Amino acid sequence: MDTSATHAEPTVLLLGGTGRTGGRVLQQLLGRGVHVRALVRSAERLPAGVADDPRLTVVEADLLSLSAEQVKEQVDGCDAVISCLGHTISAQGVFGKPRDLVARSVERVCRAAKELRPAQPVKLILMSSVSVNRAGGLDTRRGWFERAYMWLLRGLVPPARDNQRAADFLHDVIEPADPHVRWVVVRPDTLKDGDVTAYSLHEGLVDGLFRPGETNRANVAHFMCELATDAEAWEAWQGKLPVIVNASPE
Ligand SMILES: NC(=O)c1ccc[n+]([C@@H]2O[C@H](COP(=O)([O-])OP(=O)(O)OC[C@H]3O[C@@H](n4cnc5c(N)ncnc54)[C@H](OP(=O)(O)O)[C@@H]3O)[C@@H](O)[C@H]2O)c1
Repeated sequence: MDTSATHAEPTVLLLGGTGRTGGRVLQQLLGRGVHVRALVRSAERLPAGVADDPRLTVVEADLLSLSAEQVKEQVDGCDAVISCLGHTISAQGVFGKPRDLVARSVERVCRAAKELRPAQPVKLILMSSVSVNRAGGLDTRRGWFERAYMWLLRGLVPPARDNQRAADFLHDVIEPADPHVRWVVVRPDTLKDGDVTAYSLHEGLVDGLFRPGETNRANVAHFMCELATDAEAWEAWQGKLPVIVNASPE
């Protein structure tokens, strides 16, 4: 694996690049000329056509099984880490181990960045969900019934709890001006396939649980790539949990 090269373009460590959103992130990053280190359980599940791209380095490993030193090796030299990890939609994926896939991955990446002490903070861009609350009760749009429902969901459905824990960790443990790692938690609504379209970004919730909005995975990927490569986008959203939804048709 080549981790020693220095590039003018950013280098991104991508987690979950074999997923339906992560695959789109990978294709879009490569399309922008970004160097990508994709950490995947199986390279066979990467999207077709990316394997020969000279900007792509594939590491076949499970982040949670790596030693702390090996995690540091993966984060070292990366300007950003994008995580599109998520629990597989199956009984084993939802209720089996690891129940804390997202939270533990985020914690390990942050610890590695803090130990590496990079000259510029690593940008951690996490795919999450509108089921995740902003701390401090800032997501005021939900009524009491929805709030109770979501509370129950996070209690009973491990992936919902995992996503909330990951976001809470970033908010509670990583200082806004941390010199080594900064973060954005991206919150899509109901995920759809389809191409990149117009989309809008919001500080808080736009739609309700019983009248959900839609978000194309390609739009999530586009926004995550913007955060990794565009300084203005990063400045606007770092330390926040933007909600992303498809723009309504005219
Ligand atoms: N469904 C929705 O409407 C919705 C809405 C908002 C937010 N979200 C969130 O967005 C996430 C991503 O969505 P998606 O549709 O892109 O997910 P996806 O296609 O299921 O991709 C999940 C990714 O996580 C990896 N993964 C799963 N379990 C793992 C494990 N134990 N260890 C290491 N890697 C593992 C998968 O790798 P493998 O290929 O190796 O399995 C895959 O790369 C969801 O999981 C959810 O948290 C979903």
